[in-house]
Amino acid sequence: MARARRLLFLVEILFLAVSLSSSDQETVNDFGDGIRSVEAEATTWPPNVVSSEDDPSLAPGHLKPIGANVPNKAVKVLQGFPPPDVFLRDYAIPSVPVLFRAAVTDSVAFKNWNTDEYFRQFSEADRQTHTIETRKKEVRTQRPTALTLRQFLDRYNQEDIYMVEAVPSFLRKDVPMPKSLLCEPLTNLLVDTVMWFSSGGTKSVLHNDDVDNINCLYAGKKELVFINFPRYRNKVDLDHPEGSYSSMDVEAVDFTKYPFMRDVEYHRVNMSAGDCLYIPYRWYHQVNSYGRNIAVNVWWEHNLKKYVEALSQDCGDLSEDATLADFNIENPQEEQPSDHLKEFLDSVKDETVTFEVFEASVKKDRVATELIIWTPECRQIIKEMFDEIDRNEDSVLTQDELDLMQEEELEEVLGEKLDGIRTVIIDQVAQLRQSVEAEVARGRAESYVELVKKLLDEGRTTLAGADESAEQGHQEL
Ligand SMILES: *[C@@H]1O[C@H](CO)[C@@H](O)[C@H](O)[C@H]1NC(C)=O
Repeated sequence: MARARRLLFLVEILFLAVSLSSSDQETVNDFGDGIRSVEAEATTWPPNVVSSEDDPSLAPGHLKPIGANVPNKAVKVLQGFPPPDVFLRDYAIPSVPVLFRAAVTDSVAFKNWNTDEYFRQFSEADRQTHTIETRKKEVRTQRPTALTLRQFLDRYNQEDIYMVEAVPSFLRKDVPMPKSLLCEPLTNLLVDTVMWFSSGGTKSVLHNDDVDNINCLYAGKKELVFINFPRYRNKVDLDHPEGSYSSMDVEAVDFTKYPFMRDVEYHRVNMSAGDCLYIPYRWYHQVNSYGRNIAVNVWWEHNLKKYVEALSQDCGDLSEDATLADFNIENPQEEQPSDHLKEFLDSVKDETVTFEVFEASVKKDRVATELIIWTPECRQIIKEMFDEIDRNEDSVLTQDELDLMQEEELEEVLGEKLDGIRTVIIDQVAQLRQSVEAEVARGRAESYVELVKKLLDEGRTTLAGADESAEQGHQEL
């Protein structure tokens, strides 16, 4: 409050200064070289001295739950799952959330998970332990605990606990693989499946995930609020970037601490048992749950290039009735930081590696294959990586230099720099999507996907001759 009052005072002083200095209708600046800039003065009176722009605490929604007091946008709703090609074309490639109504009401999980008794009959319910969060209003610093499923079932209705864990192996056959993912180019990208189980009343933090996600609800209700990632990625400021979340109070958003929250649009959607929701890669979201609640996330690696390729590939012959038990889901993101690069460095042996050879190898790395263009910025990031390993600064890497580095030290250097490349990928993909959206909005493109495909094939993020391309000036090396 004190801060708000100080701001108000400052605004008044500023206003006084402006009104004293400018008695003319126009302010004219002569730069002496014939360039004159003319600024028209505001003519409204009395001016709006204190606007919500000056004082965030006056904006509607301040200290209210996320997205309150501003009109929320809807999320698209479909009956059931569309086939994989439609899902890719209309949702995954353009990064659009969508609710699949009653998509899993035929499943064993939907039919049997409505009672705790069903879970108690499995002997594994006594044997395996699971990660249990110990506060329903999520606090990321809170330490989780471990319980067996039976112990959890005995306590979850009385205590402030919920379960977040890879779907237990004995329950995977109950959970259908979302039909929109039943295509091998997509199932090859699967990363993880996570089960959320609570008695309701959970409130998550505002966060995002670095994977694509279909969340299916098998019991209870959920309310979600979304913020569009491609559109607001430079605006939303998560104060815990290491965990991709914000520590803001989601029930009372303080606009003086999080001013970006009054400048973004919110999409809101409700889920009932049997519904699934596509949560696009990195879209910010906050989730509240109501009543006995069981949900399963299916997470897969986001890759625009592979999605576009998948459209022209064969889906294989996956069964329509496939469940999570039919897939061997490994998390490639846990190969830290990048197997290819580590392998390459292991193979250095007696050779000496110049920067050019090193750069060529990084370009083949799994991370870099997602890049649309290898830019000077990428080269700079890789040069920094190279220089950190090249201890004697003779511009070649040798086995001796690699031996000088501790394993963890090497992983840290590689990890940090590959994260730099990931940021470039995110920017390039967002820029490409923006260019394509603008072109489609102007009615100059027949199909969103065809245009994305064309740009990817040409290794560009913007259209030649389009307004944006001149200022962006990406260059290929
Ligand atoms: C979600 O459900 C709540 C509670 O029933 C309701 O107030 C709200 O309008 C619903 N929102 C949407 C987007 O349907």
